[in-house]
Amino acid sequence: MAEIGKNIDLAARLLLEGKLVAIPTETVYGLAALATNEKAILKIFEAKQRPHFDPLIIHVHSLNALEPYALLENNLMKRLAEAFWPGPLTLLLPKKESISDLVTSGLPQVAVRIPNHTMTLSLLEKLGGPLAAPSANPFGYVSPTQPGHVNAQLGDKVDYILDGGVCDVGLESTILGIEEDKICVYRLGGLAIEEIEKVAGKVHFHLNLSSNPLAPGQLKSHYSPLKTLLVGDLKLLIDQHKHKKLSILCFGKSDLPINHHQILNLSPNGEPREAALNLFKYLRLADESDSDLILCEILPEEGLGRAINDRLLRASNKT
Ligand code: TXA
Ligand code: MG
Repeated sequence: MAEIGKNIDLAARLLLEGKLVAIPTETVYGLAALATNEKAILKIFEAKQRPHFDPLIIHVHSLNALEPYALLENNLMKRLAEAFWPGPLTLLLPKKESISDLVTSGLPQVAVRIPNHTMTLSLLEKLGGPLAAPSANPFGYVSPTQPGHVNAQLGDKVDYILDGGVCDVGLESTILGIEEDKICVYRLGGLAIEEIEKVAGKVHFHLNLSSNPLAPGQLKSHYSPLKTLLVGDLKLLIDQHKHKKLSILCFGKSDLPINHHQILNLSPNGEPREAALNLFKYLRLADESDSDLILCEILPEEGLGRAINDRLLRASNKT
């Protein structure tokens, strides 16, 4: 198990030595290494068992700190950066020489964001350079939203876990790029599309459900618990599986039969923001329980509900 603590100086020292540190962000915990240290970057892929074709997001402290690593020239992208950073938004930008192909998996663009978490911002400021950090979970599993989640699965692979408490958003960042001068969404996430469109106009969607995606976060099967997860109409699903022990994730007012089932209400008041916060925690609880099967309902397709549904559909895909 790794040490969990609030020592930012220690975290900085370990990172400068080329070690891996789990860092808090407002979205989910990241498994961080210095983005300019190739050996350390390789450790990330190894620890996560992540295929090398799946590129990493770099995290910077400010727009100034981004300068040496990526080009922020497109006006729409600039406007988005100014409106939402620090925040749960990742932009795909042309990379500069200083970013290794290991980080971008050979792609000409690098994924960048300024995370909205005071501890990680002061860590980045101390370091002076960017941190590459994917979500701190084994490849394909549910993302961690608190330090204990990181320790449970990567505790022996990470040198320190910087404890920034429970994540505020609970869903990974929204990923945007530019294609033919239009904003393109590659991953739904913690920043709602409605908010983005207020600043940048209509967006396009490139949310592949394929096995050969541009962004592997688009992989059809991802964010998955180990148990089978079925998503759809709860009443129907419960009826079909009534002889099994069930973990049931519901949303809003519910009159579900409790019986011997584990009922996890994502938000009793029907608030998508609260549901986003609880989603990964509850998927983990359900996965760790003794139930045979996890059932979850689809949320209304608006705001963060869209990103939650996206995660659920990917997580439920069992091939
Ligand atoms: O909220 C987040 O984005 C969290 C926190 C830690 O910042 N990070 C995160 O990283 O979710 P990760 O690696 O789990 O997901 C990043 C996604 C992956 O699907 C990856 O394929 C895609 O971003 N990606 C990274 N760099 C890319 C690039 N250059 N071009 C296209 N997709 C990229
Ligand atoms: Mg991830």
